[in-house]
Amino acid sequence: MSARRNKTQITVIGCGYVGLTTASCLADLGHSVVGVDASLERLNLLEVGKAPFFEPGLDDLVNSGLNSGNLKFTKNLEHAVSESQFVFLCVPTPSLENGSADLSIIYSVSKEMKDALPSGSVVVIKSTVPVGTSSQVSDWISRPDVEVVSNPEFLQAGRAISAFQNPDRIVIGARTADAKERVSNLYTNLNSKILCTDPSSAELIKYASNTYLASRLTFVNTIAELCEKTQGDATTVLQGMGLDKRIGEAFLQPGPGWGGSCFPKDTQALIAVASEAGSDSAFLNAVLESNEDRFTQIAKVVTQSLGDDSGKKIAMLGLAFKAGTDDIRESPSLKIASLLLESGMKVVGYDPQVNMAPLQGLEMADSPEEAAKEADVLLVLTEWKGFLGLDLPKLYKSMTGNLFIDTRNVFDKKDLVDAGFSVWRAGEGWI
Ligand code: UDX
Repeated sequence: MSARRNKTQITVIGCGYVGLTTASCLADLGHSVVGVDASLERLNLLEVGKAPFFEPGLDDLVNSGLNSGNLKFTKNLEHAVSESQFVFLCVPTPSLENGSADLSIIYSVSKEMKDALPSGSVVVIKSTVPVGTSSQVSDWISRPDVEVVSNPEFLQAGRAISAFQNPDRIVIGARTADAKERVSNLYTNLNSKILCTDPSSAELIKYASNTYLASRLTFVNTIAELCEKTQGDATTVLQGMGLDKRIGEAFLQPGPGWGGSCFPKDTQALIAVASEAGSDSAFLNAVLESNEDRFTQIAKVVTQSLGDDSGKKIAMLGLAFKAGTDDIRESPSLKIASLLLESGMKVVGYDPQVNMAPLQGLEMADSPEEAAKEADVLLVLTEWKGFLGLDLPKLYKSMTGNLFIDTRNVFDKKDLVDAGFSVWRAGEGWI
């Protein structure tokens, strides 16, 4: 038997953000991992060690997996599955029209692999799925000799690898003690708290965590708006709150509203789960609505500062939904750009990781300086650290207007004022 055969054999289905991080990190832990994806284009990139999206450190980890032989990629799902003790499902579960999660890819993959699964293998659902999906997949697979386990991802774009390698917790939801132990053993080299529970509770932990964080940020932005309108200083108010250990200091940064591939989708899906269960979702609906209101409020800060003149030029710095990623899904920048374009403004965007215009009407610049040239307003929407290297007095001189709206509080306000700008900051308003 070869050395490879002695290792745990794992198939990871889906090589997107979650799947590729999971596959390369599991390979790094010493397991023998095969990543499966339906896109040949994506597989061609992966086979030469290139991640199909930007995530710090991921290219290196994929390359080291390929070089050690612990990581391989294929399109042949059935063959990969037939040699595996564990099959991780990392496929997308996008939102349907009514907000609930679309499980059609989970369904088709379950059907496709059901006969190829070796007896005694474990199917691990990492994709974010509504409560009850593990038992649904069990039914679709219809193999009493195969366990289906929920092991939700808590991936954080921009620090996906370190979040996998140093997790706050690993959640495993399984029906049998044996399956809990076997999945736990995959992670023994990670020094993490492992919470074992039933599949439904594990599925709910994922939705509840993301929706709690989204709700917390909506609260933070509500306080920020109040400070902006009352001359309070939200940074100090939030710091004062965070010092209370019951509240804690993380996730208290005010901003232009939250986005990304998870918070909006997961909040909507939890609302759908709640209404299907006959459970109250008024609070969650208000959270979503309030986040949309924040986008409108930021767009208004821009338009009201310019009067009713259309055709003014807005330089938008940052298009990704947060720094450290090229992901623009549900990005506050695009929501706000749409509102500004609708009100007749010209919007020129720049992002260090986004090259193509992701929105009709939005123009793209190759540098922050090019975006700012002859602009009336400079609007910062993503907290890229690289923006701090900008020559502010030079930027000021190149602009037509003098307005600087920093929705992420990236810049030091004194530096901006010294450069000549009239400044608006999240949680402070115009200063
Ligand atoms: C999130 C969850 O954190 C992760 O556990 C889950 O599995 C996937 O969804 P991610 O989408 O990568 O991760 O982004 P996150 O860092 O949570 O940020 C989400 C949004 O909140 C971003 O738009 C971000 O800019 C915003 N945010 C975050 C703030 O405005 N203020 C903060 O203090 C933190």
